[in-house]
Amino acid sequence: MTPGRLEIFHCGGCPLSTSRMADDVRRGLSSAPKDLSPWPKYLYDGEGSHLFEEITRLPEYYQTRAEASILRRRAEEIVVRTGCRELVELGSGAAGEKTLLLLDALTAHNGGCAGYAPLDVSEDVLRKSGERLLREYPGLTVRGFVGDFEEPPERLLAEGPGAPRLVAFLGGTIGNLTPRRRRRFLGGLVRGFRRGDALLVGVDLVKDARTLEAAYNDRAGITARFNKNLLRVINDRLGGGFDPDLFEHRAPYVARDSRIEMWLLSRTAQRIPVKNLGLTISFAPGEGMRTEISTKFTSASARRMLEETGLRIAGFYTDEARLFGLLLAVQP
Ligand code: SAH
Ligand code: TRP
Repeated sequence: MTPGRLEIFHCGGCPLSTSRMADDVRRGLSSAPKDLSPWPKYLYDGEGSHLFEEITRLPEYYQTRAEASILRRRAEEIVVRTGCRELVELGSGAAGEKTLLLLDALTAHNGGCAGYAPLDVSEDVLRKSGERLLREYPGLTVRGFVGDFEEPPERLLAEGPGAPRLVAFLGGTIGNLTPRRRRRFLGGLVRGFRRGDALLVGVDLVKDARTLEAAYNDRAGITARFNKNLLRVINDRLGGGFDPDLFEHRAPYVARDSRIEMWLLSRTAQRIPVKNLGLTISFAPGEGMRTEISTKFTSASARRMLEETGLRIAGFYTDEARLFGLLLAVQP
């Protein structure tokens, strides 16, 4: 067997640059209400990625376990039905059990796995998971991309082994994009597809508000730390003066928009300098800033989202409790 190989590519720097972040944060802090939720990528620095890993193990956060249970039953079927040989994964994170289930299925079918191409904003996580996968799958070729899935590098889909790809977007991350960004993201992605390429999207499903809110208001307070970490990222990268202790974590389910909204509420009246923006930001007591959205889908709304892209829906899979859904669509 030829030895495995890990290559890491940096995508033109631009979407992850500090000057881009400064523009985004300036816009977000100047809007009413203050709103950083259009840019979930800033939540995932080293500490944020670590906290998200902890979230996936929380008793209240059912999503990771539910999605893994679907893949345990369906990964082989998905791979056999699509005939895919390469796995492209967007927002791959730590490439945990779910990634391994797909890689196992690809290794066992269609002539073997022709490669793994993860893309994530977090270089550290990408490199570590790539190295681990090389040890677990001798012979695997890993092309890792440090970049923004909203502006994916051409070579992610233009290069590679040439076999049909399974493009996986797991963890309900699609729900963190606003409807407009979702449409633009999916449209752009599918333009890079060739006939036979498949898209596998994980969506959290609409359910009772109590279960949803518990998942984002965990008793151990990890989600609160994940949320407040955004303030630290702004302090570190933009010279901000936020004190995370002066903010309170909130994550209500907003039924009208079928989404959890993550907010930080100012505990007091405060004025916070952000040096590199040349701005001072005022908060009234109790004033909120939205930091992330997490949209919940029905099987119908998820199908519609993918049908709009021109892909053909090939399957919709759920776990036994119907907590989470995996939608499979193919480029005809
Ligand atoms: N796929 C994993 C992780 C989901 S968390 C799972 O299902 O458990 C979301 C992941 O997407 C994180 O690893 C984060 O670093 C990454 N991410 C968030 N916004 C991104 C963006 N704009 N571009 C690329 N990666 C992004
Ligand atoms: N994709 C995950 C989700 O929507 C990201 C996440 C984890 C998250 N914890 C969160 C989003 C808290 C908003 C609030 O569930």
